[in-house]
Amino acid sequence: MIIPNTFNLPVTTDNLLTFTSIPHLRTILKDLCNPFIVIGEASNILFTTRHYSGTILKSGISGYEFTESDSHMLVTAGSGLHWDDFVAETTRRNLWGAENLSYIPGTIGASAVQNIGAYGAEAKDIIHSVEAIEIATGNKRIFSCNECQYAYRSSIFKHDLANRYIITSVTYRLSRTPRPNLSYKPLAEAFANNPNPSIEQVRNTVINIRKSKLPEPSEIGSAGSFFMNPVIAQDDYERLKAKYPDIPHYVVNDSVTNQVVGIKIPAAWLIDQAGLKGYTIGGASVHVTQPLVLINKSGSATPDDIVALSQYIINKVKSLYNITLHPEVIFI
Ligand code: EPU
Repeated sequence: MIIPNTFNLPVTTDNLLTFTSIPHLRTILKDLCNPFIVIGEASNILFTTRHYSGTILKSGISGYEFTESDSHMLVTAGSGLHWDDFVAETTRRNLWGAENLSYIPGTIGASAVQNIGAYGAEAKDIIHSVEAIEIATGNKRIFSCNECQYAYRSSIFKHDLANRYIITSVTYRLSRTPRPNLSYKPLAEAFANNPNPSIEQVRNTVINIRKSKLPEPSEIGSAGSFFMNPVIAQDDYERLKAKYPDIPHYVVNDSVTNQVVGIKIPAAWLIDQAGLKGYTIGGASVHVTQPLVLINKSGSATPDDIVALSQYIINKVKSLYNITLHPEVIFI
């Protein structure tokens, strides 16, 4: 059977199991053999072969629970829910905090593994706790947001605890009072004359910005940003700036000490300046309005096309700027 994936690659498996509750997951875990992987909507995964010979585990846990807590609402969502359905639901209820993350593909479970982010917000800003089942024992554990060790597109579930836990639900802490986060430039510009927008206005504006830059997920296969934005040393940045005075950059500070830890350079700019917008290998292309996104342009790209295109970009960016791009997408 085909493994659903947002690149729309024709990748197959013989064993795709969807669990719909914790007891169901525990039953599956008793008989689970290696290798296996857990996926949400495979919106951040690149299958590098046409057939995956292990087991694919997918969460089908759905449903919400709402608990009032002071000026906030705690919303527990099943890990298999589509992320943007959650944003639509919480926006409809006037619960603030997820609206800047509107229209991101993927699931609730993935939001907590990946610490999804966009337009000045990250999942970690609203995650209260994460419920997960230990694969080896079937035991349940609740992780506080702090214990998840969130960082840019990263968490403990991608590092120390990779392949050790399966997320079953995530609890978010959302504000019942308006809390517009308009710090990101395109949002600040859109609301320059309206500093107190409604939550629907923020959501709709985010969706329109995404639609103007990113490929429509239902029409063109992609995995969103293919690479992470690199953080380089200050000296390296000064050298690049001498050559490219207009290079966009963001200073990155340590969240505890507030010391400068490096300079973040938009990978989209590096790829754009390298002249790679629209560059194509086989059925795979660099998206023209957001070159950080690699697309299955023809609809018939193979995993090899996408791997070759990503390697070409890494090599070209390295040779031009001496910066190594690291994929955000996970290669399986
Ligand atoms: N840029 C160019 N040429 C282009 C497009 C962009 O030079 O054609 C430069 C511009 O300087 C622009 C900068 O790149 O200011 C940043 O572009 P953008 O605002 O589109 O954001 P990004 O850094 O490329 C990140 C996230 C996106 C998220 C946007 C908006 C990562 C890896 N990507 O992209 O997340 O939607 O910010 O906040 O951090 C994703 O992770 O899949 C994703 C789409």
